[in-house]
Amino acid sequence: MHIAFQNIQKSFGKNHVLKDISFSIKEGEICALLGENGAGKSTLMNILGGIHRPDAGSIYADGKEVRFTAPEQSIKLGISFIHQELNLINDLPIYENMFLERDYTKGFRRVPHQEMIQETKAIFERMQVDLDPRTLVKDLDSSYKQIIEICRAITMHASVIIMDEPTTSLTDSEIERVFSMMRHLRDQQVSIIFISHKLKEVIEVCDTYTVLRDGNLVSQGQVSDVTTKELARFMVGYDVRTDQLIQQRERGKEILRADKLTDAAAFSNVSFSVHQGEVVGFTGLLGDGRSELFQSIFGAHDISSGKLFLYGKEIHIHTTMDAIKHGIAYLPRNRKENAIIKDMDILENSAIASWKRHAKWGVIQHSIHKEKLEVFQKQLKIRMTNASNNILNLSGGNQQKIVLAKWLSTDPRILILDNPTQGVDVGAKEDMYDIILRLADKGVGIIILSSEANEILRLCNRTYVMYHGRLQGELKAEDMNEQAIMELATGGDAFI
Ligand SMILES: Nc1ncnc2c1ncn2[C@@H]1O[C@H](COP(=O)(O)OP(=O)(O)OP(=O)(O)O)[C@@H](O)[C@H]1O
Ligand SMILES: [Mg+2]
Repeated sequence: MHIAFQNIQKSFGKNHVLKDISFSIKEGEICALLGENGAGKSTLMNILGGIHRPDAGSIYADGKEVRFTAPEQSIKLGISFIHQELNLINDLPIYENMFLERDYTKGFRRVPHQEMIQETKAIFERMQVDLDPRTLVKDLDSSYKQIIEICRAITMHASVIIMDEPTTSLTDSEIERVFSMMRHLRDQQVSIIFISHKLKEVIEVCDTYTVLRDGNLVSQGQVSDVTTKELARFMVGYDVRTDQLIQQRERGKEILRADKLTDAAAFSNVSFSVHQGEVVGFTGLLGDGRSELFQSIFGAHDISSGKLFLYGKEIHIHTTMDAIKHGIAYLPRNRKENAIIKDMDILENSAIASWKRHAKWGVIQHSIHKEKLEVFQKQLKIRMTNASNNILNLSGGNQQKIVLAKWLSTDPRILILDNPTQGVDVGAKEDMYDIILRLADKGVGIIILSSEANEILRLCNRTYVMYHGRLQGELKAEDMNEQAIMELATGGDAFI
């Protein structure tokens, strides 16, 4: 379907988000929609998806003006939306989620469950997803949830698919599968709008690009004519650095040591250590167990055997409060489900992990938290109008920055960052890296869990690579490269 936006304007209060946006997407085209955090990408797509109404301007579908007053109308026209924040019902099995936005009836009869299961199985086979459709969604890791959302959009037989950062928690091999599906859909004349902050992906899979900045469309063209560097410059307005950031520091005292940690289901026999001033990576493929490992260390799950030492003394962590008391901070892999509290405002979300720390005689010190937030707002360039607004009014990337601010406010000794730059734009990523490196300079031990090889290669003094819940190997900075990591991540030995 051919979609055209014409002179679209949208404000939230005084925040003039989209000033005058006009562009179009052809049938059978994959168009990248790019821009900094808060540039208005999701807002524009929410207008196409019938969630928001524009203040001015029109949308045309195959030349005919459409005005949506509810998401159902957009869906009915054949527009399917994979939202930036996951949109599945946890208490239902996968197959029912696959049919959520669809008509459950066929003629006069309801689609039987068996049929839904079969159809789900068929798409999983095509996407090489190894899951039982009857599994409850709440038992799945966020990466699998993302894959299910993508599969759902595909089975809806839409003629336009909006993908708002569909790959934030996927690893390279899943991303490749998603891309091959996208190409297949393009061949069937489906139009796809693809939003991502991973510019390598944009170059790989998109045909055209459109860049928003400060409410305006600033650049547009064929992807084959540009490099990632140029796209980054269009987005932020300056050249974004891409160099190595690893700093050789004197290795300080050992802070954290794990000895043969085991949790029957997710990981076994994991031993590692982190010293003061080190930036240590943990990487691997989906199902490697690294997130589960650190969730357990942080007290979210019990560990079945093994020992944990802090400055050489054994510690026992049973709850996340225990972990925070020991100076451990953990920024989780999936923001919406595990990191933000949706009923709270921005200030509360940024302060919640350090309320106790700054309290005087049991009273929360709001002024201290406000000052801290202001400092982080400057350092991380958080785009927000008012700290007392609900966190959900922030764009995805800005929510992520608030979650980082929350953990930085606890002045941790060990900072565990799981997928820290999820949804963060190319410029803001560098700001985050600077903060991480400054903390390492001060002696904080930093652990970065990431599936982006580039993030590990640019930042970490050494990295552990996991495979099916085991530590497959360890690489020092001088031996790290994409190939050596991949070799270990797929169960091989590093050839170094
Ligand atoms: N429901 C809302 N109420 C108030 N303000 C909003 C709402 N939704 C978005 N905004 C504001 O609109 C601006 C654009 O947000 P949007 O989510 O469109 O950004 P984005 O380009 O998708 O960014 P990101 O890359 O971080 O996802 C932001 O300043 C955001 O705070
Ligand atoms: Mg967004």
